Amino acid sequence: MCSPEYFAVEYAINPWMDVTTPVDRDLAVKQWDRLRETLVGLGHEVHLLTAEQGLPDMVYAANGGFVVDGTVYGARFKHEQRAAEAAAHHAFYEAQGWRFIAPSETNEGEGDFAYVPEAHGGLILAGHGFRTEIPAHAEAQEALGRPVVSLRLIDPRFYHLDVALAAIDDTNVVYFPGAFSAASQRVLTQLFPDAVIADDEDAMAFGLNLVSDGANVVLNSEATRLAGKLKAAGYTPVPVELAELKKGGGSVKCCIAELRH
Ligand code: ARG
Repeated sequence: MCSPEYFAVEYAINPWMDVTTPVDRDLAVKQWDRLRETLVGLGHEVHLLTAEQGLPDMVYAANGGFVVDGTVYGARFKHEQRAAEAAAHHAFYEAQGWRFIAPSETNEGEGDFAYVPEAHGGLILAGHGFRTEIPAHAEAQEALGRPVVSLRLIDPRFYHLDVALAAIDDTNVVYFPGAFSAASQRVLTQLFPDAVIADDEDAMAFGLNLVSDGANVVLNSEATRLAGKLKAAGYTPVPVELAELKKGGGSVKCCIAELRH
């Protein structure tokens, strides 16, 4: 995770960002701190990446890489405003001794890559359409040695895979079908017949932008309906308020890069 101490909405690269809406940075830091404490309280170890002035989106740490089986496939940002974040993530992984594979293709890390470890022996789901480019899907497959399934995103409000779909345990996912092309919806139905299905309201509340340890599902507190659906499916929803960070177009998952050994 990376603190929002330099968070701002200074440019608009997704439909949620409005440079005329004021951001309360202190509140953003408080809310982000609560998220960090929540993860620690659930027994998870949180490593911090040092925030950098001039990189206002750096709080969305999920975009800096994608880690599977101890190997990191590095990010290469689409927008120039975020390009410099990639080096900070790279340095973090190198310093910690992770195997790092530098990308040549445009991809925004866990923003567009999800991993379902026990589905079909370990499956990578990958989004394209707005940020990550299709050649990066093949590059990730070669880097990580796991099958990559390409899914096409069609709604600009859900510009990253992680605002439309999330793994909720080792075998299953939750997603909002309307964010995907008809063909990609079919692929998801075939792969995950028992998926939890979210609707437009759940997605608009950033409910899909969640992290799960298989039992506890940490999600945006606005997504009350989705929390109910997850509870009915046997999970424990853990709501966290992240209203300030929604102004940048992100929530829980965007703030967290998962380190998978
Ligand atoms: N303002 C950031 C951007 O548009 C938000 C990134 C959100 N991160 C995510 N993993 N979806 O790039």
